[in-house]
Amino acid sequence: MSFVPMSSLLERARKDGYAIGAFNANNLEIVQGIVEAAEEMEAPVILQASQGAIKYAGLDYIVAMVRAAAEKVKVPVALHLDHGTSFEQAVQCIRAGFSSVMYDGSKLPLEENIAATLAVVKVARAVGVSVEAELGRIGGTEDDISVSDREATMTVPEEAQEFVARTGVDALAVAIGTAHGVYKGEPKLDFDRLKAIADLVDVPLVLHGASGVPDEAIKRAISLGICKVNIDTNLRQAFVAAIVRVLSEKPGEIDPRKLLGPAREALKQVVKEKISLFGSAGRA
Ligand code: G3H
Ligand code: ZN
Repeated sequence: MSFVPMSSLLERARKDGYAIGAFNANNLEIVQGIVEAAEEMEAPVILQASQGAIKYAGLDYIVAMVRAAAEKVKVPVALHLDHGTSFEQAVQCIRAGFSSVMYDGSKLPLEENIAATLAVVKVARAVGVSVEAELGRIGGTEDDISVSDREATMTVPEEAQEFVARTGVDALAVAIGTAHGVYKGEPKLDFDRLKAIADLVDVPLVLHGASGVPDEAIKRAISLGICKVNIDTNLRQAFVAAIVRVLSEKPGEIDPRKLLGPAREALKQVVKEKISLFGSAGRA
């Protein structure tokens, strides 16, 4: 099966009260682990590529790998640009075959974020590609993008309402207390803010920086309108821990397959656990 638009997956999730896992991918084993997990769980799934992933693997390789994996399975697969920061990159991804793009103008003042997001929406809409945007700034570091605690700002519900009305985006990433990367302490999510945003905004909401957020908090966020949950750090941790384990057991191992195979398996288990937590198992 080829890529499905992300909006159709998210609208169904929103109606039925669960969330779709959006997992970051940047090499063959990660793509395979995610897609195999989704197939075994009969779950719709989003694979997303960040700017760092595109720089590392190349846009054409990302599309080819995800397409090859998606064609082997029955579950719906969307391919999404994660944290795109330019109009040009969004267009390049659309042209390369992505079914969804995120334009992240969260560092811009509101009016500029609206104008830049709208430009991406117009192009994407013309070819049936979904658009996610971000309002408020999510803290932490993901690949090339770092937002300090000082720069991070929570999403203002009334601004979110205006932003969605004026841009027509399909999904909105909200800043409600999560951060990218490894948390220093337990993250505290602002559920009142999430509820206020969900009451005013009529599109599926997206939770970034979800690795390390306690399961109960994830479930509560989903019950309040989160329909897409982004996971990257937990995948990296499982993947690398498996490689370290194999090397510590067999320091002389020189076959990359003996390292990357167990890493793919470990990552796959994490994806399955997340799918089950998000409630998307059996929804394909
Ligand atoms: O855009 C991707 C994410 O928000 C992933 O965040 O690395 O904290 O899981 P994470
Ligand atoms: Zn993110």
